[in-house]
Amino acid sequence: MYTTELQKVDPQQAPSRDPQELVDAFEARVAADAFIEPKDWMPEAYRRTLIRQISQHAHSEIVGMLPEGNWITRAPSLKRKAILLAKVQDEGGHGLYLYSAAETLGSSREEMIDALHSGKAKYSTIFNYPTLTWADIGAIGWLVDGAAIMNQVPLQRTSYGPYARAMVRVCKEESFHQRQGYDALIVMANGTDEQKAMVQDAIDRWWWPAIMMFGPSDDNSPNSAQSIRWRIKRETNDELRQKFIDATVPQVLLLGMKVPDADLKWNEERGHYDYGALDWEEFYAVVRGEGPTAKERMEARRKAWDDGAWVREAADAYEARRRLKAAA
Ligand SMILES: [Fe+2]
Ligand SMILES: [Fe+2]
Repeated sequence: MYTTELQKVDPQQAPSRDPQELVDAFEARVAADAFIEPKDWMPEAYRRTLIRQISQHAHSEIVGMLPEGNWITRAPSLKRKAILLAKVQDEGGHGLYLYSAAETLGSSREEMIDALHSGKAKYSTIFNYPTLTWADIGAIGWLVDGAAIMNQVPLQRTSYGPYARAMVRVCKEESFHQRQGYDALIVMANGTDEQKAMVQDAIDRWWWPAIMMFGPSDDNSPNSAQSIRWRIKRETNDELRQKFIDATVPQVLLLGMKVPDADLKWNEERGHYDYGALDWEEFYAVVRGEGPTAKERMEARRKAWDDGAWVREAADAYEARRRLKAAA
């Protein structure tokens, strides 16, 4: 996840100067479903698209730790605290696998972190919404990680080997994240009236942002076709969005809750749910960094980076000493 939504925001690629016979051989390999590995030749635009997509994905994982980390000290029981701690740590791990995958394409960790902190790089808009109640933590696991799974399962077959392999483990962990979120909401949905109201309120606030995580509609997503041809993406934004809605609506109903979409209706002929129009103005505003908590998120990230400076310095000093010893 965390990436398709942002593709329209980036400028179009410059015209290619890659030798045609190399491009042809590359495209034939991709079309035959072979993985492209770090040392293989690849078109410059493919490399740049992947660095952008994988680093945005990595940024989203670590920024995504913030809204949930906010609730670790307030989890309602020891069990829920242990689950939430494990989940937030998993997200940190996802960020690390993904930064490492992007590094194999020639982008350094410092460059990527700097792009995030200076506002040059984007991350998923979903993490610019606040977590107001405990039900939000359930809703994030269920809806946000659920949408992530929809996006990431096809990425296990993405054409770039290191990215595809990182996704295998990420998807297993995301599946635990989704279940723990839904499980927390089942408990609340069977609880007091106040708890039930909290669940409905969380669904009302998270439903549309979660649906928007799949990005602009296909006719408004100019880089999509190229990404599909290169098998970076395997399904379009609208296909994934429809799959998510079809899978999630029955889960809302099972909780005894309502979907906050007056136009939602099962379409017998299509075999899918029809759904209402998305608020693209809100979407692009959040992408531009105007989301309710965007400033707070970046401040928290920069502070974490500054506070961790001594760890990086200590690691550098240790490495310098190790090399000196090895040379002696
Ligand atoms: Fe994750
Ligand atoms: Fe997750």
